[in-house]
Amino acid sequence: MLEVKNLTAAYGQVSVLHGVSLKVEKGQLVTLIGSNGAGKTTTMRAISGMISPTGGEILLEGKSIGGLASHQISKLGVAHSPEGRRVFPTQSVKDNLLLGAFSRLTFGRERGDVEGDLDRALDLFPRLRERKDQLAGTLSGGEQQMLAMARALMLKPEVLLLDEPSMGLAPILVEEVFHIIKRLKQEGVTMLLVEQFAAAALGVADYGYVMENGRIAVEGPAAQLQNDPKVKEAYLGGGH
Ligand SMILES: Nc1ncnc2c1ncn2[C@@H]1O[C@H](COP(=O)(O)OP(=O)(O)OP(=O)(O)O)[C@@H](O)[C@H]1O
Ligand SMILES: [Mg+2]
Repeated sequence: MLEVKNLTAAYGQVSVLHGVSLKVEKGQLVTLIGSNGAGKTTTMRAISGMISPTGGEILLEGKSIGGLASHQISKLGVAHSPEGRRVFPTQSVKDNLLLGAFSRLTFGRERGDVEGDLDRALDLFPRLRERKDQLAGTLSGGEQQMLAMARALMLKPEVLLLDEPSMGLAPILVEEVFHIIKRLKQEGVTMLLVEQFAAAALGVADYGYVMENGRIAVEGPAAQLQNDPKVKEAYLGGGH
């Protein structure tokens, strides 16, 4: 479904990704974990076209998408729920969600049942339903995070990129987010998940990649990484 081969990327003169390769098969939940500054967000930005790769390949169902503009990539069905909360603050919750469906309403992809999907997104996030007419900028941080995730889902993505969906959330909401991720997986949504809660991410994922300094240091089935002594020590809180 999604394959990244030997991807390199830079900010100005500073090279950040030094040849990243990863794969997400259809229906799989793959997690990308690693220390702060390792290059996880940059990898996602390159996949969704927010930045242009300097080298390597990005393939969506075998077709090269590397270097396409982000709106083109989103039309092809790659949805990115970015790190931090990027919602349209002066639009209502409902309008933010409808804007999420925008790229599928243009050409090339099936229009589908937007109202039905809106309903489904609001079912998934009952908090958003209660606040659907509220301006997104007045939502709490955690609610905005959920809105960003729900909006990405409105694209009916072939692949959903989730960058730290739990960031800044209270523990109970973190649990809720993981619950939602599990539900999406059951529904067959293909996902690439970046998470600071590495243990929790490996707990729901099929496969995992550990990133260090712009490279993939370790990869394997999630269950295997959970028991890897090196991974445990460095990322899972000393093996506890
Ligand atoms: N817009 C930018 N301009 C310059 N350097 C950047 C920019 N964004 C990120 N970087 C640098 O690129 C490197 C990788 O950053 P990135 O955001 O991809 O890391 P990350 O793995 O997502 O980290 P975190 O877990 O903290 O979110 C870091 O050294 C960071 O300082
Ligand atoms: Mg990041």
